[in-house]
Amino acid sequence: MHVKEQVAKALTAADGGFISGGELALHLGVSRNAVWKAIKALKADGYRVESIVGKGYRLLTSDVLCEDRIRCFLKTEGLLVQVHSCVTSTNRLAKTCAEQGAAEGTVIIAAQQTEGRGRLGRSFCSPPDTGLYMSVVLRPKIPASEALSITTAAAVAVCRAIEAVSPHAAQIKWVNDVFCEGKKVCGILTEASLDTETGGLSYAVLGIGINVHTPRGGFPPEIADIATALFEEEGGDRSRLAAAVLDAFFEEYTRLGEGRFVEEYRRRSLLVDRPVTVKTSAGDRGATALGVDEECRLLVRYDNGETARLSSGDVSIRL
Ligand code: BTN
Repeated sequence: MHVKEQVAKALTAADGGFISGGELALHLGVSRNAVWKAIKALKADGYRVESIVGKGYRLLTSDVLCEDRIRCFLKTEGLLVQVHSCVTSTNRLAKTCAEQGAAEGTVIIAAQQTEGRGRLGRSFCSPPDTGLYMSVVLRPKIPASEALSITTAAAVAVCRAIEAVSPHAAQIKWVNDVFCEGKKVCGILTEASLDTETGGLSYAVLGIGINVHTPRGGFPPEIADIATALFEEEGGDRSRLAAAVLDAFFEEYTRLGEGRFVEEYRRRSLLVDRPVTVKTSAGDRGATALGVDEECRLLVRYDNGETARLSSGDVSIRL
């Protein structure tokens, strides 16, 4: 680990308290000058470090989104994480990387997206420095028909991560939205490329967008009633959240076929036993959500008594 990463780790562990340059130097076995240079480099990365003569250094805010800081928290090995300040869409970038041969576990994170993509051709609001926008390149050895399990495992992972790093309880609105206190805090978009020879996937890109802070001036009017964030303008730590999501996701991904997360997905399901509206090609249909099956399909009973198992689509709570 470089001195910069070690200093970042020590300052993070101090939890907002001061550590003197001498202490850091002794602890890391480097010169005070090396510590000073590391602090300068951390500031250039966006860390807000206060230095007071006689007291030392401390982190003013823990909300810094950068590779080194993510690595401070990340337990999963072998991930290739890159962080950008602004991209069009992390999913778009990850797909390009996947097509050029990027390895499984390539992770593209951005502090802002100018063309954030949502499901069903919608856009995903991705203003600067308030959210976590992340895409992961995967090369799963599963049939295309099981690709939904990537999204559902990710939804469970996001819930666990949110509960680990924020005061909120998290629920899943089938199939890919995470809600806190009745409002959407995260959307997930998995895009896959089919290997026509094997019927499997040549790659999948898992895209996760989390509203970490409420944007200054609030969310745009079209989503203001349905969107929420984990923290107000201050607080939170996007790097810690990113690492928590990745760790929780890869824990399930390595044993995806076992479907161990399904029970938790069901338990966290927001729609079960609620009246819902299902958007179908024939128009909106009223229904009741009865449950989630072992493949995370939503079981619904339409108002005319017919039942169906949905594996994709748009379902909203009927008020
Ligand atoms: C939805 O709610 O419809 C899904 C939203 C998915 C948004 C994420 S943000 C990171 C990744 N990049 C994108 O362009 N979209 C996904």
